[in-house]
Amino acid sequence: MFELSRDSSVSLVEQICDATEADLAGLVVLYNDVIATSTAVFSHLPVTLEERRSWWQARTAQGYPVLVARDARGVAGFATFGDFRPWPGYRFTVEHSVHVRADCRGCGVGTQLLRALFPRAAALGKHVMIAGVDASNAASIRFHERLGFTRAAQLREVGYKFDRWLDLLFMQRWIEAL
Ligand SMILES: CC(C)(COP(=O)(O)OP(=O)(O)OC[C@H]1O[C@@H](n2cnc3c(N)ncnc32)[C@H](O)[C@@H]1OP(=O)(O)O)[C@@H](O)C(=O)NCCC(=O)NCCS
Repeated sequence: MFELSRDSSVSLVEQICDATEADLAGLVVLYNDVIATSTAVFSHLPVTLEERRSWWQARTAQGYPVLVARDARGVAGFATFGDFRPWPGYRFTVEHSVHVRADCRGCGVGTQLLRALFPRAAALGKHVMIAGVDASNAASIRFHERLGFTRAAQLREVGYKFDRWLDLLFMQRWIEAL
């Protein structure tokens, strides 16, 4: 568990740790808000608690982390990674996702979550972490660049949401071996 200083820019966040079942309801609300209000997730379909429980169980059964940042209101953000592609040759590469509750954005929560995620990938022997970012999401691109990700490839008009085509930008970062 990572205890965060109350004097820092993330003073509202009390801890970053592995999600428990009790976090899933807050995670669902946060994720469904991102789905409904942005193109950060290429889906318009809200998730259910049952679906997220199965997802969380599958992730943790695989040994992959689902981290949450908690504050007084509950889940302020979450970050996780899974296999990039299912074939054995990709076993050292993971793709992550990170989302922060709307009222907590720009306060360092996402940064703290990803900084906690990198050593977890290293501990599993992972070599590369990939971010799949909506190419029009300037805040997320900047956020990832600040954390050492570089632009790798942009796939044009592979997504569609809110009546428009979306480009998918793949960014990548090497994971330092422990
Ligand atoms: C993108 C996201 C995960 C970043 O997390 P965050 O906690 O808001 O980001 P941080 O406060 O840690 O910001 C770190 C850096 O990201 C960049 N950044 C964050 N929010 C930004 C914004 N609104 N505009 C421009 N840059 C931004 C900045 O460079 C910032 O560093 P700086 O303030 O020193 O310049 C979060 O804003 C979020 O969940 N957004 C909505 C969903 C989403 O886009 N998820 C990512 C999908 S790939």
